[in-house]
Amino acid sequence: MPVVTSPPPLDELLRKLFALEPELLRDPYPFYRRLREEAPVYFFDPGVAIVSTHELASTVFRDGERFHAFPTRAKNFEQATADLSDEEGEMVRRLYALEAPRLSNIHGERHRRVRSAAQRYFTPKQVGDLVAAVEQLVDLELTDLAERASGGVVDLASFADRVPLLVVMEIIGAPYEDADMVRKWGDARSRINRGARFAPEDVRAADKAMTEFREYVGDLIERQRGASYVSTLAAALLDAAADDQLAHDELVEIYLLLLFAGHDTTRNLITGGMRSLLAHRDQWELLCADPTLSASAVEELLRYDSVAQFFPRLAAFDLELGGVAVPRGAQLLVAIGAANRDPLVFDGPDELQVARKPNPHLAFGGGPHFCLGAPVSRMEGRIVLRAIAERFPRIDSIIDPAHVPFRPNETGRGPLALEVTLG
Ligand code: HEM
Repeated sequence: MPVVTSPPPLDELLRKLFALEPELLRDPYPFYRRLREEAPVYFFDPGVAIVSTHELASTVFRDGERFHAFPTRAKNFEQATADLSDEEGEMVRRLYALEAPRLSNIHGERHRRVRSAAQRYFTPKQVGDLVAAVEQLVDLELTDLAERASGGVVDLASFADRVPLLVVMEIIGAPYEDADMVRKWGDARSRINRGARFAPEDVRAADKAMTEFREYVGDLIERQRGASYVSTLAAALLDAAADDQLAHDELVEIYLLLLFAGHDTTRNLITGGMRSLLAHRDQWELLCADPTLSASAVEELLRYDSVAQFFPRLAAFDLELGGVAVPRGAQLLVAIGAANRDPLVFDGPDELQVARKPNPHLAFGGGPHFCLGAPVSRMEGRIVLRAIAERFPRIDSIIDPAHVPFRPNETGRGPLALEVTLG
């Protein structure tokens, strides 16, 4: 008699995902399908739910009155801090408190005020002015990558790790030579965004890193205040601060946010996007034959394997979502990766189609907090894809791309490495 096994319960799968089990990290999509079908608003804890359909995810993102951004907190704070000493627990609380004035963590009028100070820079015209510099940077970095290929093999992640951070440093007006330091601080901080339980050594490292990082940004701002020339964005932000449109902590947090948000995400877009393309060789060849597809390809890569998998919101009132009662103060984790594979919105959602149009994915969120840097990362993505397609059309992963291991992080999704031959 065949043995009939029932599928594991959702909470078991979720526990595994938050415990960073490599198999689930590599392919969370069958689990996301079950979430959408069985419990689109799934309370896995009395105060924390995952929202997984495209329709409900869009509602949560767009309705800034009912759903507030807040300083990203552990999904279950007691559980997450269970292995920490009192001192380490205090470090985590301080970390969240210092990030409270950050653009991504505030709502309502305050959010509109702070965002409008930074938004002036992120216009098509300003971003267009960066194109030539980014093309040149990508070209130089690809030449360097090719030179580093030993025995013909090189890790594409080492290229993806550099370009987006250098672009943000350019935008902010920070010296390129500080990039390695900034990357280390950012990596230390992001280690305590992931998983179900914080490791004491990660908390101590993040505390030290963020103290140094804040000091660095404070010094940079001071230097820029006295400088005769600063970048367009820095000038706009410093003007806003001088006019009291931005408080000092809000100003510092914008710099920190840009250095985080602009680096990790686009790095994962490049490495993860190339992994997806190499796993679907026909789509890569389509792109190589017609590089003008790079714009729609970037959108499809953002949809197909979204680099930001979960974004949190807080319910501002007792409310109802998708027929489920949500109490005031509940945390809602919007599962972007699940929403972007919703068959009610996308034909063949599990297929990668570089020419897909329209593509109403939610990779950049939506509503009042819609990613400010979206035009920058779209532009970078297009330039990088085009350049790799033109210079290295025979690029190939040295292992089956379907088996490339992912970073141990359920939220910021990207491969650990992507070893390739450039052809
Ligand atoms: C693949 C690349 C990227 C992805 C997938 C991405 C994704 C996101 C998402 C989903 C949000 C919305 C968060 C929310 O609704 O709470 C967001 C916000 C934000 N992103 Fe991005 N991002 C990317 C690149 C960038 C870049 C390159 C920059 C800057 C140069 C940037 C700056 C920001 C900022 C400042 C916010 C906060 C906006 C606000 O709260 O009003 N991002 N991003």
